[in-house]
Amino acid sequence: MQTTHFSCRLENQDLLSSPLTLPLKFYYLTEEEEYVLSQLVSTTQKGVIPMSQVIAIVNQKGGVAKTTTTVNLAAALVQQDERTLCVDLDPQANLTMSLGCQNPDELPYTIADVIDKVIAEKNIDPSEGIIHHAEGIDLMPSSIQLSGYDTLLINEYGRENMLRQYVDAARPFYDHILIDCQPSLNILTINALVAADSVLIPTQPQFFSAKGLELLFQTYSKVRRKMNPDLNAHVR
Ligand SMILES: Nc1ncnc2c1ncn2[C@@H]1O[C@H](COP(=O)(O)OP(=O)(O)O)[C@@H](O)[C@H]1O
Ligand SMILES: [Mg+2]
Repeated sequence: MQTTHFSCRLENQDLLSSPLTLPLKFYYLTEEEEYVLSQLVSTTQKGVIPMSQVIAIVNQKGGVAKTTTTVNLAAALVQQDERTLCVDLDPQANLTMSLGCQNPDELPYTIADVIDKVIAEKNIDPSEGIIHHAEGIDLMPSSIQLSGYDTLLINEYGRENMLRQYVDAARPFYDHILIDCQPSLNILTINALVAADSVLIPTQPQFFSAKGLELLFQTYSKVRRKMNPDLNAHVR
């Protein structure tokens, strides 16, 4: 096991000073990263598989590079002309900030509003609230509003399927949808596992990280058995 990082670095580290115009630049790709990227691109060649590939980036441990992996993978994919949507499913909104949004809590529409719509059984327009990054990445942002939703969803029917409804509506418009999860195995993370085709697990080669993977794999297996039998896992 090793920490994943796709070697597409942000050129401007001062993220907050240049909202939505952050230049992204490739430096190098290792052979393994080249291979992973080529696999992602080749399996979704337009006209071969019409629907997008949905990847949940998950680990209940914080600081293992979930958000970094999401933003770098998205940057690498758009450089290959792949239509890519990032969904920020973490109320800390690190991905939203990484893509240049200075004040996520002031955004008029976030993933929390999407879930509200699904709960209220309203029609979902997948383009509503999308932030278009100048480099080509689309973002469904998050904000602190999402922090109460694990409790809110407890009493809702079909609580594990809320995100899937949004993702399925967005699939026809993207080659890849990346879901950046919060460091928790709560109902929102389960929603990501149910909505996804595959789960990417960034981790670190440390004892407690490995122990944490046991619980994550139990959850993954349960979701696979009960809700999403086609889900695949990749540990990096
Ligand atoms: N490959 C890497 N090498 C060194 N530091 C990294 C790498 N990937 C991420 N980091 C750093 O680790 C920290 C946590 O990363 P982050 O993506 O926010 O983790 P998570 O989303 O899992 O909480 C950040 O400060 C980030 O810059
Ligand atoms: Mg994160």
